[in-house]
Amino acid sequence: MKKTILITGATSGIGQQFALEMAELGHDLILLYRDKNKLETTLSLLDTVAPLANLHAYSVDLADIESVKSVALAISQNHEQIDVLVNNAGAFQMTKEMTPSGHEKTMMVNYFSHFVLTMMLLDNLRAAEQGRIINVSSECYKLRAYSMDDSEMMPKYHWGLAYNRSKLAQIQLTKMLKDKFKDDNITVTSVNPGAIDTNIYKPISGFMRFLLKFSLKPVQNGVIDIRDIALRADSSDVNGEFISKSKKVTVDKRFLNTQQMQSLWQQSEALLQVC
Ligand SMILES: NC(=O)c1ccc[n+]([C@@H]2O[C@H](COP(=O)([O-])OP(=O)(O)OC[C@H]3O[C@@H](n4cnc5c(N)ncnc54)[C@H](OP(=O)(O)O)[C@@H]3O)[C@@H](O)[C@H]2O)c1
Repeated sequence: MKKTILITGATSGIGQQFALEMAELGHDLILLYRDKNKLETTLSLLDTVAPLANLHAYSVDLADIESVKSVALAISQNHEQIDVLVNNAGAFQMTKEMTPSGHEKTMMVNYFSHFVLTMMLLDNLRAAEQGRIINVSSECYKLRAYSMDDSEMMPKYHWGLAYNRSKLAQIQLTKMLKDKFKDDNITVTSVNPGAIDTNIYKPISGFMRFLLKFSLKPVQNGVIDIRDIALRADSSDVNGEFISKSKKVTVDKRFLNTQQMQSLWQQSEALLQVC
């Protein structure tokens, strides 16, 4: 069955690879991008694998909540049904940057913007036979991170602590949405794509980058689980789950603190209300 699949960060790495594979299989795509040149490159790659593909592209800056809101509104009006929403875009910020809305940029791009996008597209996902939300997270959720309750983050910024925190937020959101959607035909799943050779590692330089080269897998490996969840006949068995290397992985209870999760939900909803 032909699906309509929305992919954020569709012009690079895992998002681009997933777009190519889905277009080749004949699915309709909604591509979110921020760089026109990268979009042109991606469109010509898509043209080589699927010249007749039905493609729609929307420009967005996920660091800017107004941009996210306006693109979500346009998509919700233009596409009655969305079968799969892949919240894929993500980045490290090597230095601390704040967004126009006063949020730390890593958390805004990787988590808050995707929360707003998801919530604004719920009716479109509900229109699908079984709407699916796939949050591309990471095993880094287990690593040391800033506290979820510290909205400003520490004055002494560290990119890894910010990134890890954003990836944990995606996993916590996945668990919370499963409960919120219990009466809906929508499933939500987090995925760890694995250590994949993409542009995300570009900001890392020197010896660490050199070491990374040996552990990173080709980009095709990064889409295996995303593809499986997007296309399987029924995704209810992975609803609320964290999938890594094609297996359900139990997230330790200490990462799913109820108070922390409630606080995250309140912060996320507050952003949705103001925008
Ligand atoms: N690669 C890995 O080893 C690995 C491991 C675990 C998890 N992940 C996760 O996988 C996801 C995809 O990353 P990737 O590895 O494919 O990296 P990537 O090649 O750098 O792709 C990231 C995508 O996010 C987009 N993006 C970043 N900031 C944005 C913003 N402000 N507004 C709009 N789009 C923005 C980028 O846009 P441009 O195309 O314009 O740059 C790009 O398309 C991320 O969520 C990442 O955390 C990756």
